[in-house]
Amino acid sequence: MNAISHATKVLILGGSGYMGRATAKAVIQRSGSVILVGRNADTLSKAINALGSKAKAVATDAAAEGAISKLVADERPDHIVVAVSSNARASDIPSTPAKQAKLGFGRFWTSYAAVQAATSLPRHGSITLVSGSSARTPAPGYGVWSALHGSIEALARAATIELAPVRVNVVSPGGIGMSPDRQLVPRTGTADDIGQAIAALIYNPAITGAVLDVDSGERKGTWSGD
Ligand SMILES: NC(=O)c1ccc[n+]([C@@H]2O[C@H](COP(=O)([O-])OP(=O)(O)OC[C@H]3O[C@@H](n4cnc5c(N)ncnc54)[C@H](OP(=O)(O)O)[C@@H]3O)[C@@H](O)[C@H]2O)c1
Repeated sequence: MNAISHATKVLILGGSGYMGRATAKAVIQRSGSVILVGRNADTLSKAINALGSKAKAVATDAAAEGAISKLVADERPDHIVVAVSSNARASDIPSTPAKQAKLGFGRFWTSYAAVQAATSLPRHGSITLVSGSSARTPAPGYGVWSALHGSIEALARAATIELAPVRVNVVSPGGIGMSPDRQLVPRTGTADDIGQAIAALIYNPAITGAVLDVDSGERKGTWSGD
C-alpha cells in the first residue's frame, strides 16, 4: 500500500498557533486533513473556520496525563505534529530558578508524551517535533531554551531508532519575523516557511531522523550582499 495517500490525516498539537495553522494550511494544500488541538476553543474555532472543511478542532490540554494517547486512539491520525508553546517565562541559566525552568520544560514532556503516543500510529506514520535555533546556536539570555530545544532534538534522535518504521523528524525554526539583515538569504522568515517544511517531512516517506533548520541561513552566517 502506498505510504502517503490523499486521506492523510495529521494531528497538530498546538494547531491554533502560528506554526500549527501554517502546517494545517500546507497539509490541506496537499489534500490532507487536519485535527487541530489547543486549549482555547474560541481560538481553535477561528482557525478551523479559516481552513475549511478539511479541518476539525479538539479543545484539550495536551499536557494532561493520557491526553495525547486518547487523541490518537479517538482520531486515528497518520501523523502527529507537536507545535505547542511553552507556558512559562525563562531566560538565562544563571538567573532562571529551576522551578521556573521546569515549567518551561513542559514542552519537552508534551513532546515526550506525543512520541510515546506515536507508537500507536500506522507503520507509514510520522511524528514531527519543533525545536529552535538555540539548541545548537546558543545566545546570551536563552540558556534555558537552548537546553529545552537540545533535549527535544535528542529525544527525536533516540525515538527515530525506537519507533521505526514510524518516522521521527524535527523542524528547527529560526529567523521568524527577524530583521532580514541577519540571514544569508535576505528575507524575513514566516510561519508558512515552517508549515511547508513540516508538511514536506510528513509527505516524504524517505526522511526520518532529520533535524531540518528552516532559518533562511541564519545559523550559517550573515548575508553580505547589497
Ligand atoms: N515563533 C518563532 O519564531 C519560534 C522560533 C523557534 C521555536 N519556536 C517554537 O515553536 C513552537 C510554536 O510556535 P508558535 O509561534 O506557533 O507558537 P504560538 O503561536 O504561541 O502557538 C502555540 C500553540 O500551542 C497551543 N498550546 C500551548 N500549550 C498547550 C497545551 N498544553 N495543550 C494544547 N495546546 C497547547 C496554543 O493554544 P492554547 O494556548 O489555546 O492552548 C497554540 O495553539 C513554540 O514551541 C515555539 O517556542 C517558535
